[in-house]
Amino acid sequence: MSYHLDAIAPHGGELVNRVATAAQKAEFLSKAEFLPRVSLDDRAVSDLEMIAIGGFSPLTGFMNQQDYDRVVTEMRLANGLVWSIPITLSVTEEVASPLKEGGLIRLDNPSGEFIGVLQLTQKYQYNKSHEAINVYRTDDVKHPGVQVVYGQGSVNLAGDIWLLQRDSHALFPSYQIDPAASRQMFQEKGWKTIVGFQTRNPIHRAHEYIQKCALETVDGLFLHPLVGATKDDDIPADVRMRCYEILLEHYYPLDRVILAINPAAMRYAGPREAIFHALVRKNYGCTHFIVGRDHAGVGDYYGTYDAQYIFDEFAPGELGIVPMKFEHAFYCTRTKQMGTTKTSPSKPEERVHLSGTKVREMLRRGELPPPEFSRPEVAAELARVMHA
Ligand code: ADX
Repeated sequence: MSYHLDAIAPHGGELVNRVATAAQKAEFLSKAEFLPRVSLDDRAVSDLEMIAIGGFSPLTGFMNQQDYDRVVTEMRLANGLVWSIPITLSVTEEVASPLKEGGLIRLDNPSGEFIGVLQLTQKYQYNKSHEAINVYRTDDVKHPGVQVVYGQGSVNLAGDIWLLQRDSHALFPSYQIDPAASRQMFQEKGWKTIVGFQTRNPIHRAHEYIQKCALETVDGLFLHPLVGATKDDDIPADVRMRCYEILLEHYYPLDRVILAINPAAMRYAGPREAIFHALVRKNYGCTHFIVGRDHAGVGDYYGTYDAQYIFDEFAPGELGIVPMKFEHAFYCTRTKQMGTTKTSPSKPEERVHLSGTKVREMLRRGELPPPEFSRPEVAAELARVMHA
């Protein structure tokens, strides 16, 4: 595939496409009943899809031990390219032992549908606490990402994949924009600089503020909420999508924003995930990526700006996407506008900022978050859904 001269290259140079062609699909389907089966959980389904559509370029499959080891310890693939999160398919010994290296494996989604194929090249054991401590900076099983690592099987299956069927985003077909398509859209719009925004929450005033600050200096905003698996207490993706639509309709310059879903699952790996989130958005064609306060964090596991500092561990240009770092934003009651300590003269008591947990508690009590925190139309939609 060739790219517009001005377009940013995907990570590793080539946009991966592992979506089976009609002929490949027919061949795999004809073999379906003879292939050994592995059942994927929701996160593995998301990973399979992200690999296939090129969101995880240059990965063409689940990681082998050489890549895995170097990613866990050094944040690099075996070939030296930056990569911060292991993308692995973990199964129990019982599932792994009859599988033959070199063979094809049928990958089923949690409903038992045949959605992909793995060409198994390697099976390997891995050390869970080593992965947890390096990737998540903790081996506390209360951490939702660490909990997944400790809950999964002890053998990783590696090899290239093909995606046969996508079924997970029936709710948002018009926002299912793959990396090749987003690149095309940016080009058609004539955008040369595009800032990507990751979120797993409804967009509140602080998010809006940092997005609009960024939009003052770049051509377009790629609003890219994550809709794969999240923690149970995060607001569900379908509710959030409705909130994003409402917000855009009322408060954004529609010709300068593209809303698209990111099918990936959340890891809550804070700093490491910020790097990963940036690389994924680079694959979608973004030149810039917003990293605010405690990006991809959970609880108190990471310092407020750790996810920004980690970008300094790489040489300029190595990531190929520019982080746009923002301080903790709030509404300032003195200036009556959004700001951060860089721009607001406020004393702490003049700042309105609420945590996601506080907002959920308010909504549960039937109260609306204040307009200084959330646009009223968004707050009303959240309240409507919570009490439906
Ligand atoms: S995340 O897990 O997807 O990162 P969230 O949806 O809360 O969580 O955040 C989306 C982006 O907005 C992240 O870059 C985060 O750092 C940033 N962000 C969230 N709240 C604030 C805030 N009050 N001030 C500055 N940045 C923020």
